Amino acid sequence: MRDFQSENGEMIIGGMAASEIADRFGTPVYVTDEQRLRDNYRRIHGAFNAHMPTDIHYACKANSNIALLRILEQEGACIDAVSLGEVLTCIKAGFSPDRILYTGVNVSDEELEGLVDAGVPINIDSFSELRRLAAISVDVPLSFRVTPGVGSGHHQKVITGAKGSKFGIPIEEIVDAFREAMDLGFRPRGLHAHIGSGGQSVEPFIDLVGILLQVVEDLEDELGLELEFLDMGGGIGIPYRPNEPEMDVEELAAQLTAMVLGDSKIKRLAVEPGRYVVCDSTVLLTRCVDVKRTEQKSFIGVDAGFNTLLRPSFYDAYHHVAIANKFNKACEARYDVVGPICESGDFLARDRVLPEPEEGDLVAVYDTGAYGFVMSSQYNSRPRCREVLVNEGEAELIREKEDLEDIWRHQVVPERLMR
Ligand code: LLP
Repeated sequence: MRDFQSENGEMIIGGMAASEIADRFGTPVYVTDEQRLRDNYRRIHGAFNAHMPTDIHYACKANSNIALLRILEQEGACIDAVSLGEVLTCIKAGFSPDRILYTGVNVSDEELEGLVDAGVPINIDSFSELRRLAAISVDVPLSFRVTPGVGSGHHQKVITGAKGSKFGIPIEEIVDAFREAMDLGFRPRGLHAHIGSGGQSVEPFIDLVGILLQVVEDLEDELGLELEFLDMGGGIGIPYRPNEPEMDVEELAAQLTAMVLGDSKIKRLAVEPGRYVVCDSTVLLTRCVDVKRTEQKSFIGVDAGFNTLLRPSFYDAYHHVAIANKFNKACEARYDVVGPICESGDFLARDRVLPEPEEGDLVAVYDTGAYGFVMSSQYNSRPRCREVLVNEGEAELIREKEDLEDIWRHQVVPERLMR
């Protein structure tokens, strides 16, 4: 877990006091530290490129705010996109189509047409998708997603690579998929797999690369096809808990690249980190509006619920919390941090030892840059919140909050019901 500095008992984010940011922009608010985002990108880019050319395809599903995409575009990142919406957002953010790799699942013809028009390389997930794309165009840079039979992840819901997964082409059929693509007139360039998200151990990645290298060899032997790149997907976890060990990305990169360089003619790698790049750059600030003590439990009621941050409710995910304006105060009792949504499953944190809370305190929820804002909703007719970027002591708005008009905008009431 990332440590934050404090001044006079106040949490400091990107050189600014958390309470100053909250006073200026209101709560709840997602606050991203630009320098941390850049550092995370540079660290993983450096780790792999120290050994061999590796494109870092930022998995923008984790956070597709256009200002953050601009920062990563400036850094030289490539993109992993999963929808036409993400592709067009990244193009809007300044990425050229050749820096984007589209990897979809259950892709419609309409989406394929949009992708061909946008000119992005497509990573094919099924025989059906391949054939339907061929009917639109074969003049598309193509790669395949294989189901490697290796899965990993922080929760069952985010493991994607295991056998029987809905994702990718089963490994037994992958050579046939490449063969069919070549027969259809494509020139396939790469092979991709993604084991899952948020795992913290190196072994599944090693197993994955071993499996991918075997496919590379089979493709050469059976089809005489030499691939340009291997894409080992994303899924590098981060430590969400205090004192949790961090995955050693330099060691990971050293081991994986040694396997690729030692066992194949592959010249270029791709990795698709989402969480690793953006997660710990962002804190969610939420205001304590209510303190409730019952015989069984004490609650810190805040103005963000699972409408704002879904991960705790959806995956039982742990996010560290602190009271930002009582940063160094002694922790005295246990509390659940709970939101305004009308479900008992609406919580941000459970059983946390925290300083004595009061209404008006500011609660900081850590590591919310990945799958935080993007999974937020308008549930309970609560407009989505603001996002702010801080850099060297300056804060800038990067997303305005929604209002009720945004909730009502696309609803249509038939005229007859207005009478
Ligand atoms: N590449 C592919 C093909 C993916 O499906 C994903 C994530 C990534 C890369 C990036 O994975 P990352 O490096 O961020 O772990 N909502 C969940 C995570 C779902 C991830 C889906 N795919 C969560 O909040 O933990």
